Amino acid sequence: MTLFSDDRLARLPEHHLNSLQKNLCVCNEVPKINVVNAILEGATTVPKVKELTGASDGNGCCRLQIEFLIKYLCEEPVSS
Ligand code: FES
Repeated sequence: MTLFSDDRLARLPEHHLNSLQKNLCVCNEVPKINVVNAILEGATTVPKVKELTGASDGNGCCRLQIEFLIKYLCEEPVSS
């Protein structure tokens, strides 16, 4: 899968950008890139990401990671 080009990707910590092809959801073998693309397409809640990707459809152990990605990609950065 190809990652969407989006300025919001710059908000992600580097270790996330370097591991996009790895599974975020191990239970359902959903790569992080699928989750990131779903969020960039407008899935701003865990249930919506789950609906689009299947991530978090196991025992929900990746839920916090999905919430983290939504926070980083969707919340406006705080200006100092
Ligand atoms: S790792 Fe996603 S539900 Fe378990």
